[in-house]
Amino acid sequence: MDILKTKSDMQEWSKNKKNQKKTICFVPTMGYLHQGHISLMEKGKPLCDELVLSIFVNPTQFGENEDLDSYPSNIKNDLSLAKNAGVTAVFLPNKNQIYPENFQTEISLQSLPKFLCGKFRPIHFGGVALVVTKLFNIVMPDVAIFGQKDYQQLQIIRQLTLDLDFDIQIVAGDIIREKDGLAMSSRNAYLSKSQRASALSLSKSLNLAKELITKGEKKSKAVKNQLESLICTFPETHIEYICFCNPKTLEDVDIIDRQVLLALAVKVGKTRLIDNALIDP
Ligand code: PAJ
Repeated sequence: MDILKTKSDMQEWSKNKKNQKKTICFVPTMGYLHQGHISLMEKGKPLCDELVLSIFVNPTQFGENEDLDSYPSNIKNDLSLAKNAGVTAVFLPNKNQIYPENFQTEISLQSLPKFLCGKFRPIHFGGVALVVTKLFNIVMPDVAIFGQKDYQQLQIIRQLTLDLDFDIQIVAGDIIREKDGLAMSSRNAYLSKSQRASALSLSKSLNLAKELITKGEKKSKAVKNQLESLICTFPETHIEYICFCNPKTLEDVDIIDRQVLLALAVKVGKTRLIDNALIDP
């Protein structure tokens, strides 16, 4: 497994592989890898000849009062997990490689970042779009894999790939959960034992919503009220949003008469957790 720390080394590595007619699959991450990340690597491994993982905690996607400085990291463990998953190269740049002095360019999308998390994290998706664009240009993959756990991010990257004419196939990976239902996240490491119990309020809400909708409830407001009541029974929870929306445009849906995306963001203590599910009536 090759470890590349500069943009030029990474680009040269990819150009070399391309000259040898090898295809490249890419999994971008911020590290502190868990089974969710590993599932993306496992999904990508058979799709191409090479599998590239990037680990970069991207400062431009964190707001001022967010957890950039405390974001968990364990590079040694990440590298060993990557090797076991069959990664052939890890791109491990520092901040200066990605954002040299006098860096000026921004990337923005008009509509998709206005919904869901974008309402609470106004600069987040601009930062994601920027870093993913840069990573695409540096790694030059044929296929890139993103998790549905970050559904809005996935939609934004699909749109960006289309709009900016990247010749890259975007593949989605299923949400990987702990045995009790909690969606895996690097941020779960922040939770205390009691907060870990409250974190179950998210997946339990998704299950309750599925149940209510399957039983015939069509009004998203009615389902939302029940989810609010459920989440409030868990200590230290603070709901940021519960949204039923159109899975493509992310616009609000009032009447559930076709497939909807239910997306949640709940703070448990200081830790912000998200989860989602596509639900068919
Ligand atoms: P990060 O949070 O490290 O996630 C990297 C990838 O793993 C994303 O595509 C995310 O959706 C996926 N992922 C996280 N938890 C998952 C789970 N439980 N099941 C399945 N997939 C999961 O997302 C980012 O990093 C960054 O925003 C990035 C795209 C790397 C840009 O900086």
